[in-house]
Amino acid sequence: MTYAGLRVAVLGGTGFAGRNVCEALERAGITVEAFSRATGCDLLNLPAAQERLRAFRPDYMINCAALVGSLNYVTDLAADVVDTNMRIITNVYKIAQQLPDAVVVNPVANCAYPGTRDTYREEAFWDGPIHPSVLAYGSTRRMMVVFSKSYSDQYQIRSVNLITPNMYGPYDSVDPNKTHALNALVVKFVKAVKHDLPTVEVWGTGKPIREWLYVRDFAQAILRVVAEPENTLEPVNIAQNQGYSVKELADTISRKVGYAGEIVYNTSYQDGSPKKVMDDRRFRQRFPEFGFTDLARGISETIEYYREVI
Ligand SMILES: NC(=O)c1ccc[n+]([C@@H]2O[C@H](COP(=O)([O-])OP(=O)(O)OC[C@H]3O[C@@H](n4cnc5c(N)ncnc54)[C@H](OP(=O)(O)O)[C@@H]3O)[C@@H](O)[C@H]2O)c1
Repeated sequence: MTYAGLRVAVLGGTGFAGRNVCEALERAGITVEAFSRATGCDLLNLPAAQERLRAFRPDYMINCAALVGSLNYVTDLAADVVDTNMRIITNVYKIAQQLPDAVVVNPVANCAYPGTRDTYREEAFWDGPIHPSVLAYGSTRRMMVVFSKSYSDQYQIRSVNLITPNMYGPYDSVDPNKTHALNALVVKFVKAVKHDLPTVEVWGTGKPIREWLYVRDFAQAILRVVAEPENTLEPVNIAQNQGYSVKELADTISRKVGYAGEIVYNTSYQDGSPKKVMDDRRFRQRFPEFGFTDLARGISETIEYYREVI
């Protein structure tokens, strides 16, 4: 596949998901630019952001810009999360209106699904309320799908909605309150080994089962999407239909980093939904050849990354 001439704007391209996407797309020879406050583009400042994006003339805008964090973070900052994220989405679609040839690609966090389901099927995306533990954040992720449909109906703006499970891998924050569950665990264990700590505290009971997506696989999925001539509005799960409990992850990471201390589960932190696994039928139909990184290998690479940055 040649990507010659393709121009991709990665909104939030300096964050965890965005940086990995930039790296994968650049490696494939695509012209990529990261747009975030760190690169002088605040998406809350619509006129300035519009000017920057218009000047870049993207074929795709990968919408990774948001206020994101741990369950604790998005609960404590619920008002900021709902306010900032809604304004970012509004402005992204106002920018898209001025760039009618650009396709918006939304990574929609899977907490946008109804909180009561064990297995998330695209057909059931609207069939129930969001889990109360992620009401603010999850609702803004659900609104990405509402915006994409509305802007398609009224302005023929094209979007792709990729429903994305929890991700892990390099380039996430090292702040335990900001970083995502699996990476937060890796950070804790790497630090515990480095400082010879007798215990590692894990938030919650360790029982919730989640599907985990290696962030470099997410970047590869984006690469496939920008290579497709056809874009459909129908949401598609980036799915493997396989989950692991937090305890299984903690045990695996502990073993891989060579930690000899005790793992303590702090049940004063909320667990969130008991189980979230993604149905993979639509993904398999659309990307039959896609290969996911094995969890053990992904964890090893994540440990390597954090050993360097901590
Ligand atoms: N991480 C996961 O496990 C996961 C799972 C599923 C879906 N997702 C989705 O993937 C997307 C990115 O998540 P992430 O984990 O990569 O988050 P992240 O690491 O916190 O990155 C967020 C990015 O947004 C940028 N940003 C924030 N406010 C901005 C503003 N006002 N203007 C421009 N840029 C702004 C940040 O850069 P500056 O601070 O420099 O502006 C940063 O580059 C989100 O939509 C999230 O819902 C993530």
